[in-house]
Formats: sequence, structure tokens, C-alpha cells
Amino acid sequence: MTTGATSTSNADVVREAARRRTFAVISHPDAGKSTLTEALALHAQVIAEAGAVHGKSGRRGVVSDWMDMERARGISITSAALQFSYGDAVINLLDTPGHADFSEDTYRVLSAVDSAVMLLDAAKGLEPQTLKLFDVCRHRNIPVITFINKWDRPGRDALELCDELLERIGLQPMPLTWPVGDSGHFRGVLDRRTGELIRYHRTAGGATIAPEERIGAERAAAEEDADWLRACEEAELMAASGGEFDPDQFLTAKATPVLFGAAVLNFGVRHLLDLLVELAPRPAARHDVDERPRALDAPFSAFVFKVQTGMDPAHRDRVAFARVCSGVFERGMVVTNAATGRPFATKYAQQVFGQQRSTLDVAFPGDVIGLVNATALRVGDTLHDGKPAVRFPGLPSFAPAHFAVARAAELSRSKQFRKGVAQLEQEGVIQVLRSDRRGDGAPVFAAVGPMQFEVAAHRLEAEFSCPVRLEHLPYTVVRRLTDPMHRNLVNSAGRSEVLSRSDGVELALFTDRVALNVAQRQYPDLAVEPLIAGTE
Ligand code: G4P
Repeated sequence: MTTGATSTSNADVVREAARRRTFAVISHPDAGKSTLTEALALHAQVIAEAGAVHGKSGRRGVVSDWMDMERARGISITSAALQFSYGDAVINLLDTPGHADFSEDTYRVLSAVDSAVMLLDAAKGLEPQTLKLFDVCRHRNIPVITFINKWDRPGRDALELCDELLERIGLQPMPLTWPVGDSGHFRGVLDRRTGELIRYHRTAGGATIAPEERIGAERAAAEEDADWLRACEEAELMAASGGEFDPDQFLTAKATPVLFGAAVLNFGVRHLLDLLVELAPRPAARHDVDERPRALDAPFSAFVFKVQTGMDPAHRDRVAFARVCSGVFERGMVVTNAATGRPFATKYAQQVFGQQRSTLDVAFPGDVIGLVNATALRVGDTLHDGKPAVRFPGLPSFAPAHFAVARAAELSRSKQFRKGVAQLEQEGVIQVLRSDRRGDGAPVFAAVGPMQFEVAAHRLEAEFSCPVRLEHLPYTVVRRLTDPMHRNLVNSAGRSEVLSRSDGVELALFTDRVALNVAQRQYPDLAVEPLIAGTE
């Protein structure tokens, strides 16, 4: 069903899709994600000066501070997309919440990207949150480019950082640049593909694009002396140990191109953009639930990967973020929600990044559309135009690690409580687990990160006038129960219980590994199996 007749041909759609690069930055807090986002935007000339969009130090936030809670803490919980042109390419940078507390949103964003940039702090290497996010990338076969940041500050040895990638996560590093000078004395990089030195020049406060100079090997050797020789030697060493660049290895997510840089000085950022344009996968046909690829030039289709409520405090609106998978999206189209078969009007499509919104008129595969007033849409829903209907696989639920019993603080608000909980569950704000033993009035909230509890409690109070009491449960180990007949065994084992998710999956929760081991010793046939790391 379409209202606006489209003048875009199939060839246009395929061409537009080929220009798109849709990616997210995965990193541990403080590695420099906001700084890198600014630097990328600066190179694409979205902003005139870096710092204008950065959230810290009293600067204006690019990342939304839509909730009071976020504002108070100076963190971001929302995810959206920043779109900009770079040369002939259109870059879609999807934001992942940067706080140490994980939420499922962070993971879900990765279902909507074609590649990821893994940002490492040169002094710290792989950190816990980076590892968790990388696990999801690995699980989804998402190609990863590694950017080793903060090379302007004393940090670890370049070879050691590359070794860490191979040893800890089994990802073969393929450095495309190699730093000239130890970390802390960053002047430039060896471009391994041309053999030249790229020398960077600092600008005041790193606020404008750092000029780069390309220098031939001979002059580089004369001017940089021992540092140049060492860079060449180390780069050779990397090549000899399997680090020779191979684009197929990158696209099949077996190896990662590595760049060295300093986002705060804009060093290496242009190279990263060029690499994304040159190498990162472009949108490809997405498989539907029956595993049939949906051609890029098929009629419009998209899937919702995030639903956000209350982004604009003045209007309690609800925005659904959808990634376009095929066809052309034109604002005003009436599309079908595959889950319900009902029409959905897209009059208010927007591009949303942080607090900035602009009306979106047209979008192609790889783009993200923000659909305002999307009360009928849920995470995982497919939208499509015309017939036959298409449905993309739902988004995975992630293994929760935190559990709390939720109760309405006032009994008289029980009805609102039930309604609110159903709403939050539907939006994917929190997983809701239930059991006959606990009853309907005391569901168990399950979260990937504890901040999800706060968001849920805040919203129940603010939107449903229903303050809640949360009682944290001591479970840390989760297994899937594969035989419902064993429910009683787990429930009677002590320090464990079984709870059901609304999709029918039964989760066996244990306080710790010891409790699990004891249960397994007691009942050797206990039908439990691990949830796959990060996703299931
Ligand atoms: P995040 O979004 O990943 O949490 O990190 P963010 O960009 O906020 O950066 C964290 C800190 O690291 C910031 O310093 C930022 O300036 C610094 N930083 C980022 N990239 C580089 C780099 O290439 N070199 C150096 N030396 N520092 C870098 P801050 O003191 O916490 O904040 P601010 O006052 O500088 O904004």
C-alpha cells in the first residue's frame, strides 16, 4: 500500500544502497567514542568545529539527554543514527549507549549495522564492554575495523596491542597503518599500502581537520630516522605473522584492519572514513524468516530495532527506529506492519540524532528512519510496502544478568502496574519473567545491565503513575531449561528457580556456579543448556 507515487527506479535504489555505509562504534566508556563521532562529523563537515557536539565539559550534547536521569548523570541511554555524506558515500553512524551499564539497546543496534568500528584506548587495549560488544559482532559475523585511539598519549606497545587481538579474541590484526614514534610521541603513520609516511599536523585544540602530508619513504627515513626504521620493521613483522591485508578475511569477519590514531587531534580519522567507504560492506539483501533474501530493489521493507519513548519531554512521544532493508522509503507512505497486518502511516518520519531532528523525506537501504507516534510498533517488527508480505526474523533476546522482583508500591495502582509492565515488555525496555509461584502481581524484571531497572522504574512512575518497589534477586547464572518436567527439580534444588519468558523460553536461574554444580550433581540428567554468550 502506498500513497505517494515514487519516481525512483530500481536501479536508483541499488545505486543509492551501494553508497551507504551503516556502522556503529563499539568501545568501552572513555575510549573516545564521542570524540571520534565528532571527528568523523567534522571530516564530513556536518559541524564546523569539533567539540560542538560533544557531551562532556559543558559542551552541547550530540547524544540525547532526553531523560532527567540521563541529564543528571551526563550519560546517554538513547540510540539513534547520525547520517552524513562523505564524498559520494552516505555514512550512517548508529549510536550505541556509552555508559558502563549495558542495556539490550546497545546490542540491538548491532542488528541494524553492516560493520563496526572497534575503538580501543592505546593504553588499555581490549576492555570488558568492548569484549561483550565484540562477542555480538562475532555472533552476527559483522566485519570489524579496529581503531587504536589516543596514540598521542603514553600507552602500550603497538605490537603488543595487535597480539592481544589475536590471542584474546582470535581476530587476526591486519594493520593498514603503523605508528611512527612510540605512543605519546605521535607524529604520523606508515601507510602500509603505499609505503609512505602520513605526517599529521596539530591544529589548535584539535578543533579543525588536522592537515596531513604524504612523504615518500626516502625522505621519511631521513627525517624520522630510527622511528621510521622501527615502524617499517614492526610492520614487516606483522606482515610475516599473517597480518598481510586481505579484504576477504575482513568481510568474513576473520580478520580486522587496524588503524592507529588520535581522535581528539583528528589524526587518522580521515583514513578511517576512507577505509569505511572503500572496504566496509554496503547494505546487502536481508534474509526473511524463511531465509529468502529480500532483494535491495524489492518494494520497501524495514525492521524496527529500537523503540524509544519520551525523547521530547514536551510531548510524550514514542519513536520507533527502523532500518531500511529494501526499496525506497518516502515520507507519507502508508506501509504495512507485518506483525498485525495493519497499515502504518509514516507522515512523521524523522532523522533523529541526539536532540537534533529533521524531517526525513526519503531513505534507502542502510538508512535509519525514526517514526514518531509509533504506538503500534514493537522492537523486531517488520514494515513493508505492498504484497506479498515480508517478515524479517525477530531480534534476539540477550542473556540477562540482573534480576529483580517488581511490585506496585501501592496496591490500588495494580491495574496501571500491569499495563505499564506489559508496555515496557513490548518495547523491549526490560525482559519480564513470570512463574506461577510468584504470581502476576510480582513479575521478575530481567536485565542485561542494571540501568534498565532504573529506566523501567522511572517510566512506570512517570508514565503510568505507578511507583514500584524492586527487590533484587541474587541470581547470576542463567541456563535454558529444555525439559519443563525438570522445573520442580530446579525449584527444589535451593538457590535456584525457574521463570518463564513470554516467548515461552524457560530460564533456570542459579545464584552462582556452585549452586548450578550442586544441582547437576544432585540430578545428573538435569535438562539445562547454556544460553549462547551475548545472544541466544
Ligand atoms: P566515550 O564517548 O568513549 O566515553 O569517550 P569520550 O569521547 O568522552 O572521551 C573520553 C576522554 O578521552 C575525553 O577526555 C576525551 O577528550 C579523551 N580522548 C578521546 N580521544 C582522545 C585522543 O585521541 N587522545 C587523547 N589524549 N584523549 C582523547 P575527558 O578529559 O574525559 O573529557 P574532555 O574534558 O576532554 O571532554
